[in-house]
Amino acid sequence: MKKIPILTLAATVLFTACSIASASDLSKKCDKCHGKNGNSTDSKVASIAGFSTSVLHDILHEFKDGDRAAVKYKPKDGKKTDMKEITDKLSDKQINEIALHYCNQSFIPRKQPFDEKLAKKGKKLHKRKCEKCHSDGGTKADDDAAILAGQGRKYLEEQFHLIHTHDRIVPKKMWHKFKHLKDKQIKELTEYYISEQNGKPIVNDADTCNPDN
Ligand code: HEC
Ligand code: HEC
Repeated sequence: MKKIPILTLAATVLFTACSIASASDLSKKCDKCHGKNGNSTDSKVASIAGFSTSVLHDILHEFKDGDRAAVKYKPKDGKKTDMKEITDKLSDKQINEIALHYCNQSFIPRKQPFDEKLAKKGKKLHKRKCEKCHSDGGTKADDDAAILAGQGRKYLEEQFHLIHTHDRIVPKKMWHKFKHLKDKQIKELTEYYISEQNGKPIVNDADTCNPDN
């Protein structure tokens, strides 16, 4: 009789080990573009380390469902593709596992040159229009949105452009604040997010990564 629990235990251990192996194999493919442990070294590619599990889950499904415009990209030693083609090949289970994997990595904001004067103006603008949802200057993983502070300049510029031209659709409440922004203000906000938390890592606690939250 005692054999049953042991077998169950063995199966659980085996299953867990397989899940971990598959998430880390998959993450090697993601890291090819997104950088080691999801911290990008190419300014055009988003860092994805330290985003909450639920935000990563939602973003990956948005790409897969075609709800978010995907931008083509060619890594140095790979072929040109985009997040739509990549997520098309992922099962729901793989999406859950890879989301948990990147939540558990620390986000390291990029150090990049920025215009101090414009960043100061951007900070004020952010407080008035964006802080409500992108809290603590866009550094919080447990908001409903991606981390903005310390992303690469070219990535942010491109997303701002896609959002402004309405090629990337964002939630209505954000669009209301965003659609009237002038080019000059977008530049100020970009300089601000680039300047924020320069170099200071963002590390999540277990609550942020627990998929049951
Ligand atoms: C061929 C390169 C490439 C590979 C491989 C790749 N990505 Fe991406 N990913 C990109 C680029 C470029 C962007 C930014 C442009 C865009 O939004 O389409 C992006 C955007 C994202 C975003 C959105 C970030 C944000 O701030 O909103 C997430 C999340 C993401 N990728 C996760 C993943 C995961 C998980 C994998 C592995 C399963 C992966 N990517 C594999 C190139 C890649
Ligand atoms: C009512 C809440 C809300 C407000 C206000 C808001 N946002 Fe957002 N924002 C979101 C959510 C939610 C997302 C994630 C949407 C998605 O992935 O489709 C997002 C996504 C973004 C993104 C894309 C990030 C990425 O890498 O995927 C940028 C850039 C952004 N917001 C900038 C701003 C700026 C600048 C303002 C102020 C002018 C602002 N937001 C105001 C909720 C808000």
